[in-house]
Amino acid sequence: MRILVTGASGLLGLNMALEASQQHEVFGSVNSNVIQTTAFTVIQSDLTVPGALEKLIEESQPEWVINCAALANLDACEANPALAQQLNSELPEKLANYVAKGGARLVHISTDAVFDGKRGDYTEQDKPNPLSLYARTKLIGEQAVLTANPQTIVARVNLFGWSLSGSRSLAEWFFNHLSAGNSIMGFTDVYFCPLLANDLAKILLRLLDISAQGLFHVVSSECSSKYDFGVSLARLFDFDETLIRPSLVSEAGLAAVRSPNLTLNSDKLSTELGVSPPDLKAGLEHFHAQYQSGYPEFIRQMGE
Ligand SMILES: NC(=O)c1ccc[n+]([C@@H]2O[C@H](COP(=O)([O-])OP(=O)(O)OC[C@H]3O[C@@H](n4cnc5c(N)ncnc54)[C@H](OP(=O)(O)O)[C@@H]3O)[C@@H](O)[C@H]2O)c1
Repeated sequence: MRILVTGASGLLGLNMALEASQQHEVFGSVNSNVIQTTAFTVIQSDLTVPGALEKLIEESQPEWVINCAALANLDACEANPALAQQLNSELPEKLANYVAKGGARLVHISTDAVFDGKRGDYTEQDKPNPLSLYARTKLIGEQAVLTANPQTIVARVNLFGWSLSGSRSLAEWFFNHLSAGNSIMGFTDVYFCPLLANDLAKILLRLLDISAQGLFHVVSSECSSKYDFGVSLARLFDFDETLIRPSLVSEAGLAAVRSPNLTLNSDKLSTELGVSPPDLKAGLEHFHAQYQSGYPEFIRQMGE
């Protein structure tokens, strides 16, 4: 297959493009972080520029498109609402319309943060109630995509992994601070079910392969608090887990509102795939094995 991955310099997009390139011909679009790799064809494109998306599709002629480009930083969205709307709401709709005309299949990445997090264990039938500007623009994006092209796969995700900057994911944040011996906060009142980016990538490719369509919660089959996630990571890497102070999110002074219980129910995904997604233990062990095999350096040297 010819696959276009947008946002191929991002946490998900880069791992996605690398996983896909093992079996497919991959084109990865990047914006400000131009990467060097022989694994896939890198195309620099600012997708907010008029005509850029059309040119990118023309150049890559994809059969499958995986849209990982976004303004995914919550505080950056609050600071620049117009850009958040452009990247998280308007670009996905444009992409869905464009792809619908050409016959390619599209996976659009959304977020667990479309829910307010008051209850948790949300299914695809539950009504979203986004709290932040990021989440509101992401919800508009996923609805626009499904209206424009109901055959699209919209994947609400949460993820961790090794990134180009070495500091994009929560797991890297714990790794960096704990390896430096820094004392840090771990939220005991914020719950999530993240998948390792590479495991998530494989599931998205499988969903495309079996021609799935519609909305899916693509998350780990196990959930935990951010504090417990940090402690599990510390134990695997043999770091001092007492460096993580059990804390409440309200103590952190974050600009954007965080939803406390963003656990998603992934039963629909398990039924579609015939198998459950990996649990947190498996995901963290894979993250640790990647570290031991030099994967973080392999990723980072692409940006040097
Ligand atoms: N990270 C998480 O924990 C998490 C949780 C839930 C959902 N998600 C969703 O997962 C998806 C991927 O997130 P991520 O964490 O991988 O994001 P990320 O690391 O911030 O990457 C964002 C990507 O979008 C690209 N991009 C930004 N502005 C662009 C523009 N003007 N034109 C073209 N590309 C542009 C970036 O390119 P440059 O870097 O080259 O500028 C980068 O490749 C997003 O849809 C996000 O909402 C992420």
